[in-house]
Amino acid sequence: MYARFAKPLLFRLDAEHAHHLTMQGAAVAGQIPGLTGLIAGQLRPHPVLSQTLWGRAYSSPLGLAAGLDKNAEAVPLFTALGFGFVEVGTVTPRSQPGNPQPRVFRLPEDGALINRMGFNNGGTGRLAARLRGQRHAPVWVNIGKNRDTPNDEAARDYLDGVRALYRLADGFVVNVSSPNTPGLRSLQAAGELSRLVGAVLTEVEVLRPGLPVLVKLSPDMEARDFAASVEAVADLGVAGLVISNTTLGREGLNSRHHAEAGGLSGRPLGARSTALVADAYRLSAGRLPIVGVGGVFTAQDAYAKILAGASLVELYTSLVYQGPGLPRRINAGLVELLRRDGFGHVSEAVGAGVENS
Ligand code: FNR
Repeated sequence: MYARFAKPLLFRLDAEHAHHLTMQGAAVAGQIPGLTGLIAGQLRPHPVLSQTLWGRAYSSPLGLAAGLDKNAEAVPLFTALGFGFVEVGTVTPRSQPGNPQPRVFRLPEDGALINRMGFNNGGTGRLAARLRGQRHAPVWVNIGKNRDTPNDEAARDYLDGVRALYRLADGFVVNVSSPNTPGLRSLQAAGELSRLVGAVLTEVEVLRPGLPVLVKLSPDMEARDFAASVEAVADLGVAGLVISNTTLGREGLNSRHHAEAGGLSGRPLGARSTALVADAYRLSAGRLPIVGVGGVFTAQDAYAKILAGASLVELYTSLVYQGPGLPRRINAGLVELLRRDGFGHVSEAVGAGVENS
């Protein structure tokens, strides 16, 4: 249905216009009484995929990555489609327009997107209002800083995010890895990261002890810096890592828009992000839950990340190319792959492909 009807129409529009149209449709569909329940009833993931993490049930290891539903407009529909959790945001304290358009580009020959959105979002107040009163699968809030907040005051913005949303979030993701906010990635260096994440953890411990705080990293760090950052946040006691954000790398692209500025996502990111998941799994000796994200198009791709050490997996770009039936197909494919390899439950496969695990 999606490939034959919706996609050809949407792909005639520029990528951002198509995105807004889809989100409007998703938001409306989510409000039709009974519809999400009906869809969810048919697409409910198999019990071998369900896990309890940080005290909450995740019906599938597959989640929606940050950036698609920035303002939490369609969480009920996404969870009904088979996602076990949804990461909303990135949200900043004050609403901001982001970079000038055009700022999202399709690279169809490469199964990729390049975006330089720049944290366009409605701000923490609006996100809190949208999440209030909603009951659904776990929702994580990805928090960032406003573009005009200097890095030495960045902690204030992240703490604002925590204070505005701690009652409504099932977890926070500290985003220091977007390439589209100038200087943001320098907050990933071990020293800066420890100060920032330490402040967030202390605040969460006061306001809502036990609420998970994860850190999202970029795929573009030198191996030694990556290891230092993973070890620093593991020592601080973060609940997990999200690996990875988009890349500034541009190797092997064939599409017209390959040279646009911004972060590259989708297929070309897959192998790199999976390798980093395995590195982080080894570095943390399997003790830190990892969320693998980047280039997941199929159940096989999701499974590769799980074998590399990911307890959960997220996607964004493949949904644009493959449509709303994708989470159900990936869930069904994962059940088959687990069975094929003799795993009784998804948690048994986590890290099973990493040597010395
Ligand atoms: C993103 N991504 C992203 N990540 C984040 O932490 N905060 C954000 O606001 C955004 N915004 C955003 C916009 C667009 C248009 C895209 C394509 C991506 C990154 C996203 O969450 C994910 O890490 C990467 O896209 C890699 O996963 P996929 O797309 O290859 O499945």
